[in-house]
Amino acid sequence: MEPPMTDLFDPCEFNGVRLKNRIALSPLTRTRSNDAGEAGELQALYYAQRASAGLLITEATPVTPGGRGGPFIPGLWSDDQIAGWRQVTDAVHAKGGVIFCQLWHAGRLSHSSLSGGEPPVAPSAMRQPGQIFTAQGLQPYEEARALRLDEMQQIVELFRAAAVRAKQAGFDGVELHAAHSYLIDAFLRDMTNKRNDAYGGSIENRARLLVEVLQAIIGVWGPERTAIRLAPIGHAYQAWDSDPEPLFTYVVERLNELKVGWLDLVEGDTGISRTAEPSFDLQKLRRLFKGALIANNLYDRDMAIAARAADTADIIAFGRPFIANPDLVERLRQGAPLAVAPPAAYYGGGARGYTDWPTLEEAAAKV
Ligand SMILES: Cc1cc2nc3c(=O)[nH]c(=O)nc-3n(C[C@H](O)[C@H](O)[C@H](O)COP(=O)(O)O)c2cc1C
Repeated sequence: MEPPMTDLFDPCEFNGVRLKNRIALSPLTRTRSNDAGEAGELQALYYAQRASAGLLITEATPVTPGGRGGPFIPGLWSDDQIAGWRQVTDAVHAKGGVIFCQLWHAGRLSHSSLSGGEPPVAPSAMRQPGQIFTAQGLQPYEEARALRLDEMQQIVELFRAAAVRAKQAGFDGVELHAAHSYLIDAFLRDMTNKRNDAYGGSIENRARLLVEVLQAIIGVWGPERTAIRLAPIGHAYQAWDSDPEPLFTYVVERLNELKVGWLDLVEGDTGISRTAEPSFDLQKLRRLFKGALIANNLYDRDMAIAARAADTADIIAFGRPFIANPDLVERLRQGAPLAVAPPAAYYGGGARGYTDWPTLEEAAAKV
């Protein structure tokens, strides 16, 4: 097939960061760390295999044990976890890649078994329906404890400390996970935030934690190396707001004030649909945001090329397609068929279903 007329595969530069192309690895939790929540050789191989992407964004990386959404997730809550991530960044840099670390607090979507028996924390006391995977198997979500006003700065400090560790680990930047009803997103939205203090009520109050955490991260990284993920109309884990348009317009205005370099925007309902209700035109945020816009959700090759032709995004992030196609960039360039990972391979399982997916070349050599 003729190479397509597009700049999707061309080198580019945003915020002083040079990228090989406009394709990103979307953050993907793969739960293959050791018991201490350390990354290591296995993660280094996995990310290096995908380093032909212009930008790699890591799996959500917890800033505290009680901010984990499950076991076997490599974190950055302790200095002991820096060395493992250093193996990852070294391996990616050796392949000329650029890698940002996604910093995460799961909020009520965590479990007491992950935090020494303490209940998960949230803007407001609430129990998520359904079950969470724990080291003891599936268990019901627990009633979360509402954070006290005097604890809010501790949350900010957790993110600041993890941002410092991310720097020590050799990352090129960090992304704040502010989507999918995890702690930051739960504060934003009126269904999960019922507070009546400085962190609840008005949009300004609900966005206060997000702004404070971003300020802390920017203090470590500078705005050019700071990204944020938002899923304004997504409903993952029951993320609901009665009126998302003014909420996310306000958030993006604050991002501009802070000069945040990168907005990773999940368009629609994550992994499910590119539309959702209540809805609004997300291109409004694209036009408003002054930094580089990374668009994600259910993209395929044609959609990515079309998005660049229409300039609806600067960079396109692929999630699931990267799982079974470590050389996704090359396959998209050639218009080659994509392997499809079974959902059973997503989480856990060591190297199997993780680092054993062949590239086109390797697959051809086996025949
Ligand atoms: C196995 C799996 C793990 C994921 N982990 C994360 C994560 O850690 N952080 C995050 O922001 N999104 C996560 N997502 C969402 C993806 O980044 C992406 O938004 C979603 O898969 C839609 O993009 P896609 O259609 O290209 O796969 C995950 C999705 C999957 C399938």
